[in-house]
Amino acid sequence: MREAPIGVFDSGVGGLSVLAEIQRLLPNESLLYVSDGGHIPYGEKTPAFIRQRCSVMAEFFQQQGAKALVLACNTATVAGVADLRRDYPDWPIVGMEPAVKPAAAATRSGVVGVLATTGTLQSAKFAALLDRFATDVRVITQPCPGLVELIESGDLHSAALSTLLQGYVEPLLAAGADTIILGCTHYPFLKPLLKRMLPEHISLIDTGAAVARQLQRLLAERELLAEGVARDTQFWTSAQPEQFRNILPILWNTSGVVRSFDL
Ligand code: DGL
Repeated sequence: MREAPIGVFDSGVGGLSVLAEIQRLLPNESLLYVSDGGHIPYGEKTPAFIRQRCSVMAEFFQQQGAKALVLACNTATVAGVADLRRDYPDWPIVGMEPAVKPAAAATRSGVVGVLATTGTLQSAKFAALLDRFATDVRVITQPCPGLVELIESGDLHSAALSTLLQGYVEPLLAAGADTIILGCTHYPFLKPLLKRMLPEHISLIDTGAAVARQLQRLLAERELLAEGVARDTQFWTSAQPEQFRNILPILWNTSGVVRSFDL
């Protein structure tokens, strides 16, 4: 079981930002990645629809013999992680949510901005996060429709993308935010552009590395950390495999076999 793979999924390519952190921290682990690109964006879908996609993914990874599951998607986590944990109580499942706690600890201006999908920002889970960790800071939230679609097309710095992003960060800066949470796994790919766009004192916080550490803890507790050599990462997509193959070298350090996932 130690050498079994870990299943990682997202609505699209965003989860590759988390996959990279997992690979960096746990280089012996064999990884399986599914992009549900045929149903993207999750950010504008109903929680019921996303929960149903989460169970399809979980079922698929169970069939592949995955020893753990990572929801490399904030929107899928807020909608679906509770049901998955109920349905698979013995399976290590790691979800992710916007990094409100570290951002509240880091801000010096007392104002934190959150860029995330509409679904994440409207969820009860996000409201609970704010109640718990953001009592002493002001939090400005900003949904970002359209960003995910551009990133999925491989666009990380066009003029159109810059204009859209500028419009999303401006209200945060105007409110005095000095710490911005990247609350969607697609957004870390925009860090180079954001760094050029933002004043130097603004910090960007995302959760990929923390998710990798949580996965490591869960596997260690169960004596499930791999000890052998990792097999090549395998990719599936519910969109056109060609599209994923084209974007993979832009967002991922190696190429890989991409298969069609049509469930
Ligand atoms: N990558 C996803 C997240 O972390 C959502 C993207 C989408 O809207 O599908 O929230």
